[in-house]
Amino acid sequence: MNPPIYIIGCGYLGQRLARVYLAADAEVYGLVSSPESAQRLEAPGIRPLVHDLDSDDPPPVVVNGAWVFYFAPPPRHGVQDQRLAGFLEGLQGRPGRVLYISTTGVYGDCDGAWVDEGRPLNPQADRAKRRADAERVLADWGRRNGVDTVVLRAAGIYGPGRLPLERLRQGLPLVREEEAPFTNRIHVDDLAELCRLAMAKAPAGAVYNAADGRPSSMTDYFNRLADLAGLARPPVLSLEQAAAELSAGMMSYMRESRRLSNQKAVTELGMRFRYPGLTEGLAACFEA
Ligand SMILES: NC(=O)c1ccc[n+]([C@@H]2O[C@H](COP(=O)([O-])OP(=O)(O)OC[C@H]3O[C@@H](n4cnc5c(N)ncnc54)[C@H](OP(=O)(O)O)[C@@H]3O)[C@@H](O)[C@H]2O)c1
Repeated sequence: MNPPIYIIGCGYLGQRLARVYLAADAEVYGLVSSPESAQRLEAPGIRPLVHDLDSDDPPPVVVNGAWVFYFAPPPRHGVQDQRLAGFLEGLQGRPGRVLYISTTGVYGDCDGAWVDEGRPLNPQADRAKRRADAERVLADWGRRNGVDTVVLRAAGIYGPGRLPLERLRQGLPLVREEEAPFTNRIHVDDLAELCRLAMAKAPAGAVYNAADGRPSSMTDYFNRLADLAGLARPPVLSLEQAAAELSAGMMSYMRESRRLSNQKAVTELGMRFRYPGLTEGLAACFEA
C-alpha cells in the first residue's frame, strides 16, 4: 500500500505520474497555481489543491508520512529557487520522502562527453544555476529535517501532446546536424516510471540522470518528428549563422553539449525503458 502521494506542480509529468498511483489505488493530491488547472485534475480522480507557491502563505498541505513529488519549476529570474525553499520551510508535518525533478543543465557544457552523476556541477545559464540551487536547498533541508530526498536530473521531456509541432509548422531554423550539440530526451511515461522507482527504492540523498541513453541532436529530433508528422524538416543554419538569427534562449542550449548516461538508474533502480530511443518513443506518440 502506497502512502498518500502529493504532486507539487501537477502539470504534464505530474498528471502522467498520478495515473500510475491512481491505478494502484493510492490517494493522490495535485497542487497547481490556478483554478483552471485544478479543474483538469478532477476527472482522473486527482484531489486538487490550488496554491501559489510564490505567495507568503504556507502550502495548504499536511504531509505526515506522505511521498512528495516536487515538479514545479523555479521562478523565471535570478539564480536561486526561493519557490522550493519557501515550500519546504512552510510544510506542515514531515513527509516520508521528497523527490525533486532537476535538469541536466546543471552539468553545463561537457563538450559532448558522456556524463554520469559523479560529474561536478558547472551550471552556466541562470536557469541551470536555479536548478543547482534547488538541489542544494533540498539536500540541506532533508539533512536538517531527517527526511530522505532524491533528485532526478531530467533531459528534454516529450510525449503525446508535448511535441514541438508548432515550431515545425512555423518553419523556424535549427543548427545543421554536423555542428549541432548533443541533446538528450526522455519519454514522459518512462520519466514517470523512473519517478515511481526512485521514490520507492532510491537511497537517501541519491541523484539519477533521467534520459533514455540515446543522445542525438535537436536537429535529429525535429527531423524525425517532421517525417512522422508529414511536415517539412526545419531549414538549417551553420552555427555561426545561428548565433545571429536564433533567439538568445535557443542559443544558450546550442552552446552546451553532453551525452547523459542512464546506467545508474538501470543498475541501482532496475529501470527498464519502454521507449529506449526516439524511434520507439515518437512512434508511440503518433499511435496515441
Ligand atoms: N520540459 C522539459 O523538457 C523539462 C526538462 C527537464 C526538466 N523539466 C522540469 O520538469 C518539471 C515537470 O515538467 P512538466 O513538463 O510537467 O511541467 P508543467 O507541465 O509546466 O507543469 C508545471 C506545474 O507547476 C505548477 N506551477 C508553476 N508555478 C507554480 C506556482 N507558482 N505555484 C503553484 N504551482 C505552480 C503549474 O501549475 P499551473 O498549471 O496552475 O500553472 C503546473 O502544474 C518542471 O520543473 C520542468 O521545468 C522539464
